[in-house]
Amino acid sequence: MWLKLRNIKKSYLNGNRRIQVLRGIDLEVNKGEKIAIVGPSGSGKTTLLNIIGTLDRPDEGEIFFEGRPIEWQNDAFLSHFRGKKLGFVFQFYHLMPELNVKENILLPGLMAGWERSKLEERVQDLLSRLSLEDKKDSRIYALSGGERQKVAIARAVFLYPELLLADEPTGNLDPESAKEVIELFLELNKTLHLSLIIVSHNMEIAKRMDKLYLLKEGFLVEYS
Ligand SMILES: Nc1ncnc2c1ncn2[C@@H]1O[C@H](COP(=O)(O)OP(=O)(O)OP(=O)(O)O)[C@@H](O)[C@H]1O
Ligand SMILES: [Mg+2]
Repeated sequence: MWLKLRNIKKSYLNGNRRIQVLRGIDLEVNKGEKIAIVGPSGSGKTTLLNIIGTLDRPDEGEIFFEGRPIEWQNDAFLSHFRGKKLGFVFQFYHLMPELNVKENILLPGLMAGWERSKLEERVQDLLSRLSLEDKKDSRIYALSGGERQKVAIARAVFLYPELLLADEPTGNLDPESAKEVIELFLELNKTLHLSLIIVSHNMEIAKRMDKLYLLKEGFLVEYS
């Protein structure tokens, strides 16, 4: 199994009350698979994505990637895993307002030390793939919500991740832009063989994934 979660548990201390958010999550994802997770507000969807993305650590349980357990103590392992294997897309884009579209997209490559020509080639490829060429010099404030999310997705896939984690990526978009973003995910899944784990209330997204899971009362249940 490519990605496997076994008995993941997570609680948070809220004042002096401990809330048990995840009570034993099991999940298996094949390479190239598309997964949607739905669940009520506060059910732990973001918590679960953060744990899969190694941004947050479970209290109990294990994650295996390509058969190897995630080494939570090993910073070199974690930064390699996050940098080389994962891409993140959030509801509120998290773009840099002081940079333009092109600069936002190529930032991961710049930080990874790519040379100019390689950066240029990759950014052109993504701009044309996402139909953003005529916006490449625009500042973020001048973009629509759908365009911002496309920029965020371009940035997330810049370093060729194998798994894209998306947290309500269409939550702030009108139906038309949401549809574009969905098509984009499906295309990236197909052409780049990118696995997707998408948290979404958008049933259009959920329906187009291979599997749909419901997160409720701390457990993940397959729905389809
Ligand atoms: N760092 C934290 N410290 C304390 N409590 C937290 C923390 N992060 C999340 N929680 C709590 O854990 C529960 C699950 O939160 P989470 O953000 O994962 O829910 P969610 O399913 O993503 O909700 P939404 O649909 O509203 O985004 C909530 O009760 C939240 O208040
Ligand atoms: Mg959330």
